Amino acid sequence: MRFLAGFFTAIVLIAGAGYLYFKMGFVPVATASAPMPFEAMLAKMGLSARLAKDAPGKAPIAANDSTYIAGAHVYRKNCAVCHGLPDQDKSAIAKGMYPEPPQLFVSKVADDPPGETYWKAANGIRLTGMPGFKGSLSETEMWQVSLMLANADKLPAGATEVLKRPLQPANW
Ligand code: HEC
Repeated sequence: MRFLAGFFTAIVLIAGAGYLYFKMGFVPVATASAPMPFEAMLAKMGLSARLAKDAPGKAPIAANDSTYIAGAHVYRKNCAVCHGLPDQDKSAIAKGMYPEPPQLFVSKVADDPPGETYWKAANGIRLTGMPGFKGSLSETEMWQVSLMLANADKLPAGATEVLKRPLQPANW
């Protein structure tokens, strides 16, 4: 009996402390704030568990030069403002986000299986700023951009030429 009473009191206290942490404005809400305790760990754990369950294994389209070139166009239009272009400065949008969007031509995105990138592009990553494109890009376009990224270290000239153009024209 005493044990149970103690147990429930502890639960109420923990829930109350959690509530006050939010209610009294201690939760980091600005993009420049430090993360909440366990925020990054829990978010990573949830994402990788879901990817292991859901990410498709095999691409339904061929990985060839025309796929990479089409993928480069999709990327420029939909991803580059956050994820950057080879040898170009980060955009102001990318700099101000939390979590920061990884610069995909700097980080080793080519090591990620295309099915994983496809899942992220289709569904987005909740509460990070990473949009889900399921409603706006076709399946083919999402696979094109995923296959292009998976082969980012060996793209044909036709694709690198598209990615090298400046993100925004100088005279906007
Ligand atoms: C508005 C900004 C924004 C746009 C546009 C955007 N992303 Fe993201 N993306 C993010 C952010 C922020 C993250 C980091 C999420 C995290 O920390 O879990 C991310 C993460 C990712 C990741 C995981 C990278 C890694 O190394 O873990 C991939 C892959 C990705 N995005 C692909 C894309 C593709 C493909 C597009 C275009 C079709 C795209 N993103 C468009 C903001 C964006």
